[in-house]
Amino acid sequence: MSTTRRSVLLALGALSAFALMPSIGSAAEKMRIGIIGAGSHGGTIGRLWVQAGHEVMFSTRNPSELQAMATELGPRASVGTSKQAAEFGTVVLFATPYNALPELGRDLAPALRGKIVLDATNPPPDEGNPLSREAYANGVGETSAKYLPGTRLVRAFSATDATSISASSRREGEKLGVPIASNDAQALKVAAQLVRDAGSEPVITGDLPTARTFQRGGAGFRANTDAAALRKLLSLPPGA
Ligand SMILES: NC(=O)c1ccc[n+]([C@@H]2O[C@H](COP(=O)([O-])OP(=O)(O)OC[C@H]3O[C@@H](n4cnc5c(N)ncnc54)[C@H](OP(=O)(O)O)[C@@H]3O)[C@@H](O)[C@H]2O)c1
Repeated sequence: MSTTRRSVLLALGALSAFALMPSIGSAAEKMRIGIIGAGSHGGTIGRLWVQAGHEVMFSTRNPSELQAMATELGPRASVGTSKQAAEFGTVVLFATPYNALPELGRDLAPALRGKIVLDATNPPPDEGNPLSREAYANGVGETSAKYLPGTRLVRAFSATDATSISASSRREGEKLGVPIASNDAQALKVAAQLVRDAGSEPVITGDLPTARTFQRGGAGFRANTDAAALRKLLSLPPGA
């Protein structure tokens, strides 16, 4: 294990305290979260966060289409443009197609500066797509960080299916393991809490380069299994 990876894991030792927290319906600290790309994935996760007590602004390029969902979710849910959602959130989730990141990163840079960004996006397989080629050559996490500069980037919710996240939130017992990675220990801690608030269990792989283990082609990509099994798949210690 690299020194950086070990130090991120050690810095997160305190996370074990979160294991005592209940998941859905009782977020310990209410947050304002902006969702960029509230489709199948972003919509599913955002809905769970609203149910956990967070305030969530959902966005797409056509936000009016999200109004019915927001109305159904109640006063903690709202809709807006990508810019409004980026400004609204103290934490921002990206769940757009990967190809949208360079432009969004440029357009939203002032609103995102210094914020915790959870990056759930995945480049499509490299079939002549230059951005996919770059991401798989240099690491998806590092490439997202390049296109979302100035953010406290966490790879989170990228490797687990929306349907599995939703199912985990509804069941007792073993929760879905959601791998997360970042160079920012505090951002990782917030992400871990938000994974729990969505009814899953965070599995911390370490710094951003370790997100390769759960990008497309990695052992953790779409494993959709419980946290203990995921840790084993990723050769992580039991408490990671
Ligand atoms: N679905 C899953 O289970 C799952 C699991 C893990 C990771 N992911 C990742 O999550 C991302 C989204 O997947 P999805 O299945 O949720 O797709 P989706 O249902 O098509 O949702 C994508 C959302 O992004 C919005 N969008 C597209 N281009 C945009 C832009 N330039 N600016 C702002 N919003 C934009 C779309 O709305 P408009 O077109 O109306 O703007 C739509 O709401 C992908 O990168 C995928 O790899 C998905």
